[in-house]
This record gives sequence, structure tokens and C-alpha cells, in this order.
Amino acid sequence: MPLHTQVDESSRDDAIEVNPVYVQELSAEIPRYRLAEHGMLPRTALQLVRDELILDGNARLNLATFVTTWMEPEAEQLMAECVAKNMIDKDEYPQTAELERRCVNILSSLWNAPRGSQATGCSTTGSSEACMLGGMALLWRWRTRRPATGSGTGQPNLVMGSNVQVCWEKFCRYWQVEPRYVPMVPGRLHLRGAEAAARCDENTIGVVAIMGSTMDGSYEPVQEISQALDRLQAERGHDVPIHVDGASGGFVAPFLQPDLEWDFRIPRVASINASGHKYGLVYPGVGWVMWRTPDALPDNLVFRVNYLGGEMPTFALNFSRPGAQVAAQYYNFVRLGRQGYRRVHQTCRDVALHLSGEIAKMGPFELLTEGRDLPVFAFKLRDDVTGYSVFDLSERLRMRGWQVPAYTFPADMTDTAVMRIVVRNGFSLDLANLLLDDLRRHVMVLEHHPQTQPPPEIQRKRQAFKH
Ligand SMILES: Cc1ncc(COP(=O)(O)O)c(C=O)c1O
Repeated sequence: MPLHTQVDESSRDDAIEVNPVYVQELSAEIPRYRLAEHGMLPRTALQLVRDELILDGNARLNLATFVTTWMEPEAEQLMAECVAKNMIDKDEYPQTAELERRCVNILSSLWNAPRGSQATGCSTTGSSEACMLGGMALLWRWRTRRPATGSGTGQPNLVMGSNVQVCWEKFCRYWQVEPRYVPMVPGRLHLRGAEAAARCDENTIGVVAIMGSTMDGSYEPVQEISQALDRLQAERGHDVPIHVDGASGGFVAPFLQPDLEWDFRIPRVASINASGHKYGLVYPGVGWVMWRTPDALPDNLVFRVNYLGGEMPTFALNFSRPGAQVAAQYYNFVRLGRQGYRRVHQTCRDVALHLSGEIAKMGPFELLTEGRDLPVFAFKLRDDVTGYSVFDLSERLRMRGWQVPAYTFPADMTDTAVMRIVVRNGFSLDLANLLLDDLRRHVMVLEHHPQTQPPPEIQRKRQAFKH
């Protein structure tokens, strides 16, 4: 969650004007940052809040986010019915707990957990919490294997590409784990096996492999990373587990690339996370995390809650959480089935490939990815295009509401500025063609009107996009 700071009321206009048409009480104003003395009628409160929210962008035109922005009315109805159920009250809402159990089982078979392995998992608020839990399990396991092997006495470290999502940086900072980033370089925009293995030692708690990269939608080669770690174990004895961050791909690869081995088919993969609210097609926030076997999840991380007179093991950072998203995840599984998920994601991929193909033909752009792994691709301006930047284009696209982020790559490639398009369910071929028309128009305008460099504070703001 973003952190907010108390506002200095003396320096801001601290009253919100209420449209007089809505006012039923004497006061036509309420304090902006303090609780008003009196309330207002529900319709008035609703209208007041809605009026303020019209300034938010149109979620359907948001091509920056991976998170679901459209669900069908039946799913919305189900979510409204379940929003008051608290996931943690397993005793009061045993059927919601049962739906969660079914979802975990469905995912364990989608991720090819070996039969009889007792793969264990749970829902979370999203992938960030799921990654935090996955990382904690790696750290606890490293701590317990230290005395047995007599090695690993220094600071624990985690090996990953510098393209990881910010949740891994958080995990490392909060748990004082040294992040060992493999830098992105031109031609290698994500983690590869040799570079990962080269950074591992006796204090490595694990390697994070991403399916797929937030930066450009590409899948990291989990099989290749695993083979490099097998060689490392044979040569130096370090047995390093892999956590797969499948925030997006965990719900895409089983349907679009069923033969690609990235999951529990690879013995070194100890745990996997995914966001139900990305290509799981549920509104935010639901995520999932799963461990190959119960012993991949150290028992002293597990708490027990009441459940039908007995105890149910739980592992979570928070306590109360609405049951709506889990019910909606189960709804999607029964509503779509394997073929339905495949059709939805295939349509997204077709749209992504159409968009990237047309963008490549426009002339000034160079594709970094095409959208063949996730239906997500990144592109940049050719080096000889100097009159304008991807930031100028991104800003111009906002004129009609398109939100297409522009950002620079992390350390070692900060000179490379790209745009990224995430195609999600509901972004049709028609919308894609409208976007292409607008993009062509803006390119033409910018080619005739070279842009000047904006002042440094605007440049800093432009580059503040967070993945
Ligand atoms: C690879 C990856 N990991 C983790 C996350 C964090 O996911 P969430 O927003 O579900 O917390 C993201 C979000 O984009 C992601 O792309």
C-alpha cells in the first residue's frame, strides 16, 4: 500500500464544496481532512464520492496494468454477495474455505504438482503477499539447513534478475536478505541460467525465476536455470531451490504453452505464486502461492485457526480479508474451464501480436518483445529517432484516455526507455485498431514538431513509473 502523510492544513484549502442540490442539512461544506461533525444522507454521500472519482482514468483503457479491469455481471453479483464474508472465519464460512481448497487443488494440477506430493498452498491478497510468503519459506529453510551442513554462516542472499517486480526488493529489505541482481544487458533482458548460478553460494536461499517479466512480458527459462543449478550442485554442493514468480504467467502458461516446462515438473521448483487478479481474471485482490511438498513450507511458519471444532493450518501476513475474490476465482474456474481460459488468453495473444506487428511496421519503433509469452510486449524508438521520446508519445496518447506507460529499464540499462502494452480480457481487436490509428497520428505530429527536453522535475516524474 502507498504511504500517505498527514497534510499541513494551513497550506491547503481544507474544505470540499458540496453541490447545493445534494445538501439536506444546513452545512454546504465538510472538512476535507477531518471528520465532519454531522453526517449526510446516503445518496448525497454517494454522489459526493462519485463526483470526485470521475477524475480517475478509464480502467478499460489502462494498458499499463496487469490487473483485471472487467468481469461479467454474474461475477460482480457473486462478489457483492460475498464481500461481507471474512476469509479468516473458516468456522463461520466453511463453504468459502471449501472453495479456496478447490482452487488450490485446481492450481496444483494446472502447475503439475506430482500426484501424491501433497502440494500445499493458500490464497493471498495478491502476488506481493504470495512472494513474501514464498521468500519467507526459502529463508526459514536456509536457516534450518545451516547447522546440518555446517555451512552458510553469512548474510542470506536471494538471486534474481534486475527485472524483478518491486515486491522482491521489499522482501529482501524487510527480511535483511542480500538481493543479488543479475543486470539486464542489451540482448539479455531477463535472467539466464549461467548468470544465476554464477551468483549462488552457500548463503543463497533461492533463485527467483519470473514467468513472465514485468518489464517486457517475456518468460525466464526456468528449465535452463534449473539445469545450471543442477551443475552448480554437482560441482560445488550448493542445493539451491527455485521459486517461480508466476504472477501473470501462472495463469497463462498452463493454457497457452502447456508443453513448456516451468512448473512442478521441474524437481528444483519448490514454490510458485500467481495473481488471481491478473490473468486469473478476478478483480483485485487475490493471489495464490503453492509449495511442491509440505516440507518445502517450514512448520513453524504455520498458524492454526478454528475450523468446525478442529484446527486449520494457515499462513498469511494479514488476518481478515473478504471472501469475494476467492468465490470469484472459483466462479471463473467453473464458468470458463480449461478451454474457456485458453480462448480468453489466446484472444489476448492474437490482439497483442496484431498490435506489435503493426507497431513494428510503422517505422520509428523497434520491438523488444512481440507478446508471444504473455500477451504483453515492449517497444522502443529506434536510436536514430531523436525529435521526440516515448514519454512524449505516452503523454499524447492520454489525450483520448489511453494509458500506455513509458519507463526506463533498471540499472545498467537506464538509457533504454520503452513503452509497454498489456493486453487483457476485454481489449478487443477494434479497440486495438483505434489505438493504432491514434499512435500513427501522434507519430506523424511529433515527426513534424520535434519536442524540447522538459524541465528536470517533469523528467523525474516521467520516469517514476512503478511496475
Ligand atoms: C512478476 C510480478 N511479481 C509480482 C507482482 C506483484 O503482484 P501483485 O500486484 O499481485 O501484488 C507483479 C505485479 O505486476 C509481477 O508482475
